[in-house]
Order: sequence, then C-alpha cells, then structure tokens
Amino acid sequence: MTTTANGALPRTNPPLVPSTPAGAGRWVWPVDGEPAFSTQRVQAIQHRLHEHPLMRLPALADLAQALYPTKQCRFLGPGARPDSAFQHGDADTAGRTIEEVFARIEEPGSWVALYNVQTHAAYRTLLDEVVGSMRPLVEAQEGRILQVGGFVFISAPPSVTPFHIDRENNFWLQIRGRKVMHVWDAHDERVVAAKAREDFVVYGGLDAVRFEPGFAERSHVFDVGPGEGVYFPSTSPHMTRSDRAWVRPGDGVAVSIGVVFYTEATRRAANVHAWNQLLRNHFGRTPQAPGLSPWLDRLKYPLGRAFIRLRHRMRGHKLQVGF
Ligand SMILES: [Fe+2]
Repeated sequence: MTTTANGALPRTNPPLVPSTPAGAGRWVWPVDGEPAFSTQRVQAIQHRLHEHPLMRLPALADLAQALYPTKQCRFLGPGARPDSAFQHGDADTAGRTIEEVFARIEEPGSWVALYNVQTHAAYRTLLDEVVGSMRPLVEAQEGRILQVGGFVFISAPPSVTPFHIDRENNFWLQIRGRKVMHVWDAHDERVVAAKAREDFVVYGGLDAVRFEPGFAERSHVFDVGPGEGVYFPSTSPHMTRSDRAWVRPGDGVAVSIGVVFYTEATRRAANVHAWNQLLRNHFGRTPQAPGLSPWLDRLKYPLGRAFIRLRHRMRGHKLQVGF
C-alpha cells in the first residue's frame, strides 16, 4: 500500500495505465461499447479501480477511522435478508470499535459500509477521475454532472445488502471478492410502486420499498468480480449477496464501491417526482413518471421546484439531496 511516512493516506492518485484498448487511460468504460451506453439503462461496465491503492483494505481501514466520528461508518446487524428493512446504524451492533471491526472483518457475516467517502480529499479526487472517465457520455445524455459521491461496502460472505433504491445514478464497481447483484429497471412499478418511489425521493423513507417473492425473475442479474461492475440509473431497485462457497483462500472479504452522481436530469426528475406527489396525494391523479415525456417533465420541473421550496420554507420540510 502507498502511504506516507506517518501512515497517512496518499494525496495523489497513480497515473492511469492503459490495460485494454477500450479502457485505455480510463477508470471505467462500457462493456457494450460507447454508442450503446445509455444512462437510462441497467448495464454491465468494466473498470480498473481494484488496482488503486486507496481501494486496499488497510487504506479503507484508515478511511473508516477518519469517517467514524462523523457517523459515516454504517453497520448492519447480522442475519440481513433481501426482504429486510435496509436500516443501518452508526455503531457496530456488537459494540466493537471500528478498529476491532476491521481487525475481524474476515469473520463470516461481517458488514460495514463507508458513506460519503468524497468528504476525504484523496477519495474525492479519485471519484472525480472515475466519473470523469464517463463524463462526455453521461453529459451528452443528462446535462452537467452536479455532484459526485462514493459509498464503499466491505463484507465477509455470507452477506446480504437488502433490496432498496437510491437517488443517484450509480457506477457500482466490484473491487475484491465476488458478489451477485440483482438490479431492476427504474420504472418497474410492479417492483416499486410509483408512490413509494416518489415518497423516497421527496421524504427519504424506504418503508414501502420491500423485496417480495417473485421479484427476482424480473431483475437483471450480474455475477461480478474485481474489474467488473454495473451501471444503473437513479431509483433502480437493487440488492446484493455473497456466499461462503465463492471464497478462495486468502480472499475472504468482498469490497464494492458505488461511485454515484447527480446530474441536471436527476435534479429535474426529483422535482418532477415532487410535483407528481402533489398531484397524486392532493388531487387524486395518476401522473406520468419522470423520464417518459420530455415536454411534460419540462412543464412540471419548475412547478415541482417551486412547490418543494415553498413547503421547505413555510412548513420546515427537510429538502433532500438531489433537488
Ligand atoms: Fe444502493
């Protein structure tokens, strides 16, 4: 691992080294080629982030120590299942320190996530480079990239990250170990109802987002190892699992990172969700989801934006990230 004399994390990233023609000079690139990449489609991607020293376990342990005081280390209790609530806390459920958690991270069932790693300067630089690899493709479709973040998941099989949705677009990259990832289309209302999606985007609750038997067959399934990943758009339901049987000697820890970002398009969609929620809850309408009609979205965007800010000012409703 590259560290300074006092053990601090490196402040600069190593130069990009071409490994394949498609990935030359880039951290992330589309498996299906550039013309096929769509920000609205769940699809496989390739990456080289597993080669970066900041992604090794000792560096992540240092990062966890830096993030722990700000409650950005998140812990999931043992026995999580796909249909569990995705409720994580800021303390280990067994009462261990973050150092103890990492010292025993290879114990089967371990699970810790590092949230908002962009708050650390070296990781912010790296995340910007990762998204920068895809910036021309993304911005041609979604307008400017507004905000980049990173979420690192460290676990020892068997582990499950329960079914949930997020606000951001996501380059989800496997760094070490193996995982199976299920991802559903963002507009699949048989999996997550439009109202549940709106409520999550506007209020942040996941109470109505739960896995049910029969959902799995509607999902895209990716069996990913180091160098492989999945792109999925904002509000695509997803969950992951790993199994003891996949563990090779000396490789008992799985690490993944979600490199996430907002764009002008995700911001427009969030405000359309807010207007749709008003129409649904107060006027009994069944509004069209964002992304299906550009002209309707253009009409609803300023209305939703004005409504959500008025409600924030007048009634103190928390303004969620992404607006
Ligand atoms: Fe997620």
